[in-house]
Amino acid sequence: MKKIILTGDRPSGKLHLGHYGGSLKNRVLLQESHKQYIMIADIQALTDNFDNPEKVTSNVLEVMADYLSVGIDPNISTIFIQSQIPELAELTIYYMNLVTLGRLQRNPTVKAEIQQKGYNDSLPIGFLCYPISQAADITAFNADLVPAGEDQLPMIEQTNEIVRKFNGTYSSNCLKEVEPLISNVRRLIGIDGKAKASKSLNNTIFLSDEASEIKRKVFMMYTDPNHLKISDPGKVEGNVVFEYLNAFHENKEEINELKAHYQRGGLGDTTIKSILNDSLQSMLEPIRDKRLSLKKGELLEILYNGTRAAREVVKEKIEEVRDVIGIKY
Ligand code: TRP
Repeated sequence: MKKIILTGDRPSGKLHLGHYGGSLKNRVLLQESHKQYIMIADIQALTDNFDNPEKVTSNVLEVMADYLSVGIDPNISTIFIQSQIPELAELTIYYMNLVTLGRLQRNPTVKAEIQQKGYNDSLPIGFLCYPISQAADITAFNADLVPAGEDQLPMIEQTNEIVRKFNGTYSSNCLKEVEPLISNVRRLIGIDGKAKASKSLNNTIFLSDEASEIKRKVFMMYTDPNHLKISDPGKVEGNVVFEYLNAFHENKEEINELKAHYQRGGLGDTTIKSILNDSLQSMLEPIRDKRLSLKKGELLEILYNGTRAAREVVKEKIEEVRDVIGIKY
């Protein structure tokens, strides 16, 4: 039996290089050897966009197009939309009883997001609880593996706590623990040098960006502020150009030579940016081309079919869960 993968993305914008390095590449690599479910997490996206649902709904098909463009094959991977499987919301409700407020507040990813969004006293409960809903997504499919970026580790840890608590409370082995698969691009920094590339910080390169836009962003990248003259020695740590070369440039030997040259001085920012630009352009051009060939009707059909298939799986699981709790009349 193939191992099961469940992953997903919030459709609050198009997908970018952070998604690609963190999880999408792995999903493409693993889709043949695993049974893979990919969820467009529109309900989760609403937890921080409830007052702007348009932002979520208008990006659902964009994310679907991103998936197909990078090589997710809908004939082997099941792509579905969260909101059309109400059983996931039901499962979330049962899990809510098993998690304390204090535990949610300690989730480092959620904590960082709360700070970044400046919620302070106006924190919506729905947002605080999204890790519980994510645990429902993962366990509903009996997932073994979640390929994701480093920021998802706390979600997986919390999922496994819920699994143990549920199984213990209801004396069952109904739920399965899951493992993360963190890629070697653990966390992609933003083009401005900020800790994380994200749509809301406006510091990312989208998979669908035009060639000229990619170039503009590469040449804007934060490097080493003390590397003023070409002859000056430069720093590679925290230097966005080198971080992106590490993440996406195929030739590791060339990267090492460039790093050594930059560190001893004599290598200009324009040169390294040109090399990165060439490498990103050749990686993203076929993805952009594939995207142009996709039709809206085709994307919708894939979404409907995937959701129908995924819902069958979840319905079976929810029956089991009700049974184990004893909700049977
Ligand atoms: N939290 C993920 C994000 O921020 C989206 C997501 C929802 C997810 N459910 C998931 C990821 C289950 C992996 C597994 O984009």
